[in-house]
Amino acid sequence: MNLKGSAEIYGVVGYPVRHSLSPVFQNAAFRHLGLEAVYIPIEISPEGLGDLINGLKVMENFKGLNVTVPHKEAVLEFSDSLSEEVKKIGAANTLLFRDGSIEAYNTDWLGFLRSAELVTTLEGRKVLVLGAGGASRAVLYALNRAKAEVFLWNRTKEKALKLSRDFNADVVDDLEDALAECQVVVNTTSVGLKEGDPPLFNYDLLRGEQVVIDIIYRETPLIKAAKGKGCKYVTGFPMLVYQGAESFRIWTGCEPPVKIMELSLKDYGYPIESSRTPQRTL
Ligand code: ATR
Repeated sequence: MNLKGSAEIYGVVGYPVRHSLSPVFQNAAFRHLGLEAVYIPIEISPEGLGDLINGLKVMENFKGLNVTVPHKEAVLEFSDSLSEEVKKIGAANTLLFRDGSIEAYNTDWLGFLRSAELVTTLEGRKVLVLGAGGASRAVLYALNRAKAEVFLWNRTKEKALKLSRDFNADVVDDLEDALAECQVVVNTTSVGLKEGDPPLFNYDLLRGEQVVIDIIYRETPLIKAAKGKGCKYVTGFPMLVYQGAESFRIWTGCEPPVKIMELSLKDYGYPIESSRTPQRTL
């Protein structure tokens, strides 16, 4: 890398952050477009977040930050303006540093939408969303924007009921009954992240005509079962790239080189060889 003093700095903040693949594909995009910029990982605990953001704000060559777990909600209080999506979702994954102020955006919902569009249309579809944590809010926002009919299940029902007050979704008691009704299933829970997690439901109940979306980017047992049943499916990998691509667009004003970003991840298991056809819903 040939960095001069005139380079702009971007980064991703998380705790931990060492698993993040964002530096791989964001730097690939900068290189491809010949932009004089570098993207770095920043690991900081919740206690240090305010000091970090205020420090970055006074750095004149610091231009943009991605925000990941567990900081997505906490960054709102250090931001000078919030996009409509950030206000509704209650979380930001993208900060733009401009003229001494910080603008907060959320591109997770759009990343989800673009990845879902690889395998299905959403308008009028019955979609079962599993989970009511932080990640679920961006997914519900996207599904509402796309005019899907949303059913929401969570292990702890109270959390689902709380979410259904902010988003248009019917809370369901029985996951397997709801599964029988729905055409699309979206996992937003952390189940499948760790080897040996117990399944969310009997995956044998999936039907080949259903579409399965898991926002975890490795191949989870749910995705394996979907494959086995012949379902259309998408992992969290495309969502990761698409949310980053939308951040890139906000920071640079340039069309993100999505294919280049995807290719840069081929050694990390990104599903490059895909015959899926995008189905635009927005
Ligand atoms: P995130 O911000 O990634 O969504 P989170 O806010 O901690 O993470 O939410 C985790 C989600 O995974 C929740 O919906 C959680 O269900 P509860 O609200 O009942 O805790 C869900 N989850 C985690 N482990 C689970 C398990 N073993 N079975 C079912 N749901 C689980």
